[in-house]
Amino acid sequence: MDILLGLQWGDEGKGKIVDFLAPKYNLVARFQGGPNAGHTLNFGGQKHVLHQVPSGIFRSDIKNVIGNGVVLDLVILKNEITALQERGAAVKENLYISKKAHLILPTHRLLDAAYEKAKGDKKIGSTLKGIGPTYQDKIGRLGLRVGDLCLPNFRAVYKDLRTQHLQKLEYLNFGIESLPELEENFFQAVDFIKEFQIIDSEYIINQEINDQKKVLAEGAQGTLLDIDFGSYPFVTSSNTSVAGACTGLGVAPQKVLEVFGIFKAYCTRVGSGPFPTELFDEVGAEIAKIGNEFGATTGRPRRCGWLDLPALKYTVMLNGVTQLFMMKADVLSTFEEIKVCTHYELADGTKTDIFPYDLKHEDIKPIYRTFKGWQCELKDLDNFEKLPKELSEYIAFIQEVTEVPITVLSYGADREATLLKHQF
Ligand code: GDP
Ligand code: IMO
Ligand code: MG
Repeated sequence: MDILLGLQWGDEGKGKIVDFLAPKYNLVARFQGGPNAGHTLNFGGQKHVLHQVPSGIFRSDIKNVIGNGVVLDLVILKNEITALQERGAAVKENLYISKKAHLILPTHRLLDAAYEKAKGDKKIGSTLKGIGPTYQDKIGRLGLRVGDLCLPNFRAVYKDLRTQHLQKLEYLNFGIESLPELEENFFQAVDFIKEFQIIDSEYIINQEINDQKKVLAEGAQGTLLDIDFGSYPFVTSSNTSVAGACTGLGVAPQKVLEVFGIFKAYCTRVGSGPFPTELFDEVGAEIAKIGNEFGATTGRPRRCGWLDLPALKYTVMLNGVTQLFMMKADVLSTFEEIKVCTHYELADGTKTDIFPYDLKHEDIKPIYRTFKGWQCELKDLDNFEKLPKELSEYIAFIQEVTEVPITVLSYGADREATLLKHQF
């Protein structure tokens, strides 16, 4: 099994690359997260955003698995499936849903909003999709799973958990006016989803691996949003790093082959939380404009900044990345100068390239190295050897610092605007 995951704060372009690589694989699987993800695919002049369905779904004859580590919103899934079927994707045949994936209930969504409201100006900037409360119930051993949908007493167990949630919502003084409509949609979606392939996905995935078939695990979010290693508490509620693929699919670590680490040629972040290289000037605004940096799930503007190498080295280390994929190089094409943060200067004057424990309280000043921009359009690229000299130097420096080769260069949103160093 190969794993593709984000090395920054999400939105690195995972959807584009998984869609691009999918024909080389027999099975693509999501292993964590849920509808907080928004993975954008562009082909045939059309754009498609996926939230919970794996990004191999547009390729025929590929199994697409929603693994046990995912938290699933059935209403969003129903809408996603309908939109995919309208575009001709063979969802009934190719989508498989783990019985062990946890269900996001309508009250989880309300709780997410209630917790964020209670946090006031310390809010995480959650996508409000119910991710945190659903993972809380999973760990608290209270949650409901996809396999429970077929229980004869599903409505009763649903009601039990709902009652507990309503008590919390009352304590938080959070209005529940929207609940009847949310529940009506939820139960309609339950009936819809029951018609799809609900399976013991760990068996299917391991069978494929044992049959020498190729499996690709598709990460959601990014390692800097990981519950253990991200900029806590401004993180999501799952392990977005490599170990999450093992627990989120039921695949043993020795079955992992390549780890593809994907990053933008700069940095973005959506939601609250520390971001050492964030730009508040016109350069940041320019990156946001050219890169069209708006959240694929919430539409919120993404904060932009220069590439952060201490953070990238950290996430490369955590994931054991074997190949780096650099995305959105085209966005920097017009810049005269491009900066890269190589170290941080801490409040006491120490220079370090270690990702600090408490990023939010540390007064961090990024130390930059400046590169000359390539200042030419990137199009129809067919060879790494023929890249503009300045871009080659930029790539060489990142490879030298991370000690990992960059084997994919993405220079446009379209499937075709992708340069490979070797065949996959
Ligand atoms: P994901 O969550 O990691 O799948 O990334 P998103 O889809 O949320 O955000 C990436 C955005 O950048 C999407 O709008 C993509 O269409 C777009 N994109 C991906 N790769 C490139 C690229 O190389 N160049 C440009 N300009 N856009 C890209
Ligand atoms: P993809 O898969 C970017 C961010 C939210 C918020 C924090 C917690 O498209 O890269 P949550 O809803 O999980 O409780 O939000 O994490 N976040 C993402 N940012 N891309 C994502 O997914 C994200 N999923 C969550 O903005 O700051
Ligand atoms: Mg996204």
